[in-house]
Amino acid sequence: MAVGVLEHHPYGTVRLHVPAARGQPVELPAEVLAHAVDLSPQMIEHARAAGAGTDVAYAVADVARLPFEDATFDLIVSSLSQHHWADVPGAVRDLRRVLRPGGRLWIYDVRWMLRGATREVRAAFGADAVRRDVVRRFVARLSATVPGPLSTGSSSG
Ligand SMILES: C[S@@+](CC[C@H](N)C(=O)[O-])C[C@H]1O[C@@H](n2cnc3c(N)ncnc32)[C@H](O)[C@@H]1O
Repeated sequence: MAVGVLEHHPYGTVRLHVPAARGQPVELPAEVLAHAVDLSPQMIEHARAAGAGTDVAYAVADVARLPFEDATFDLIVSSLSQHHWADVPGAVRDLRRVLRPGGRLWIYDVRWMLRGATREVRAAFGADAVRRDVVRRFVARLSATVPGPLSTGSSSG
């Protein structure tokens, strides 16, 4: 799970994590409905176990074929996954489909691997709607909470 992002973001009442994984327990306000997806059943099991006690609905799914209605989510967060996506244009298309008008899509990944996704989201949402920020703190927080080394030096959203 993308800890830190959930703690800080001010948007919306419904959230989706793409994918789930690192599994830090997250405290959610009662009115928040959170979904977490990942392509890997093992990763979903790991996230479910680590997130026990939190009100999150987990599902095995491909980001390019999300099992959700159109315009479902106020906020979508993807952490360190985009560089694995086999179909980046299809993923961005489906993320846009399930995002509500005015919703936010935050894609965190290693900066130099974000070029493909940046091009796609600019085409899908309009260049003016897309912002890239360096967020070293995000990776620092993950490093602090996840056992084992992280190979990334910085990420961009
Ligand atoms: C480096 S891990 C990051 C996991 C987690 N988001 C985190 O921050 O700890 C990358 C994850 O992306 C998932 N993944 C790769 N391709 C995917 C796809 N097309 N749809 C959904 N998840 C995918 C993998 O199964 C893997 O769990």
